[in-house]
Amino acid sequence: MVWTTPKLLITTIAATVLTAQAAIQELDASQFKLFGKPGHYEALINKLDGILPNASGPSQFIRSYTYVLCHFDISTICTCCGIKKTGYDDINTDKWYPQGVTSSSDAYDKGTYGDNNIMLVSWYDHTVPASDPANKGVRISFVDMNKEQHNYRNVLLVVPEETSSGVPSFHPVRIHAGGIMWYDDKLYVVDTNAGVRIFDLGHICKVTVGDQIGYVSSDRYEAANYKYVLFITLYQKSQYVIPQWGYYLANSDVAKDFRYSFISLDRTTTPDSFVMGQYNSSGVNNRIVRFDLDYNTRLPIHSSDTYATATEFYYVGLKSMQGVTSVTKDGVQKYYFSCSRGENTNGDLYTWDRSTGALQQYTGELSKGPEDLTYRQQGDELWTIGEHPGERPVYALSANKY
Ligand SMILES: *[C@@H]1O[C@H](CO)[C@@H](O)[C@H](O)[C@H]1NC(C)=O
Ligand SMILES: *[C@@H]1O[C@H](CO)[C@@H](O)[C@H](O)[C@H]1NC(C)=O
Repeated sequence: MVWTTPKLLITTIAATVLTAQAAIQELDASQFKLFGKPGHYEALINKLDGILPNASGPSQFIRSYTYVLCHFDISTICTCCGIKKTGYDDINTDKWYPQGVTSSSDAYDKGTYGDNNIMLVSWYDHTVPASDPANKGVRISFVDMNKEQHNYRNVLLVVPEETSSGVPSFHPVRIHAGGIMWYDDKLYVVDTNAGVRIFDLGHICKVTVGDQIGYVSSDRYEAANYKYVLFITLYQKSQYVIPQWGYYLANSDVAKDFRYSFISLDRTTTPDSFVMGQYNSSGVNNRIVRFDLDYNTRLPIHSSDTYATATEFYYVGLKSMQGVTSVTKDGVQKYYFSCSRGENTNGDLYTWDRSTGALQQYTGELSKGPEDLTYRQQGDELWTIGEHPGERPVYALSANKY
């Protein structure tokens, strides 16, 4: 990943504004239902807690750092630097592709976790098919945004399980992880065909460095030593995993027909809510759906028992929609959509004013391969990330420009 600051970008944005032809259509949200299994893995997590040391939450965890993100000045949004300082190659690897983005500004109203300004990025195993047992699943980078040099650490997401002989273990989360959302101690990760998985950040477990994933031998657990990352073998003494805690599965016909491609938190609604969206290169069936959140449980508000019903559902129809976020300011609710336009073309940003219906296109406003979106209220910033090897900026646009 490559870091840049919002300020640098503000001066370089070309304000090409076109009015798009597409019309967004409202659909029946009451038909969109998810079935929740909060805490489904809690008993297994408790067993793992008894065996594996706790990394004491994201704050301390992020301080004990290994990698350094390259810090650089850019003159245009699409320039990328090569990483020279360190031995790792997350900027160029094709083994992992970055997708989702969220930050401590989503997690907490004040914007920080303790004193830490943290950004999370999800990556999926890009070379091994999800159906292959060798697929390592999803890793999350925890990026320390406080320092001039943005240190980060990669952590593997895992699903707790028991071996056939009843020993607590875990296996990789073999999904695309196209979008993530950090809400207090919970990390939401979209699961394309199924719904959304929830991880508990109160459990970041330390494991031994090694090639395997899960229980290996007496008290030895591993998390797929990322061999291609030279840096790990040189400096990293341990690795970490975050076990899945619960999930929400598509339950009604429309929910099952939806693809869960990306997700964002909206703290500007009452109550807090989140929006998920569907990707399709043709735009056909590209929709967005919103659920309200219960601040106390950090879970979707349940209409009955453990069913959650959507509060908003729209057909958007934009080609290759990769991210959505919405923000209400001065009574105006605005949606932002990121759309990719192929490996060699800059992505487009769209805005939609829900009350007037005005949809605007900002052609080429984003980097190549833009992905998930997240809003950072503290700086009124829209963050996204580029996915292609060699061009992976993590960057922000100033939301009030659009
Ligand atoms: C791990 O540490 C964090 C931060 O101190 C804490 O909130 C959490 O409860 C701890 N988890 C366990 C299982 O002890
Ligand atoms: C994606 O669009 C194509 C039309 O180009 C359509 O046939 C297909 O069903 C769509 N996929 C999904 C998952 O909606």
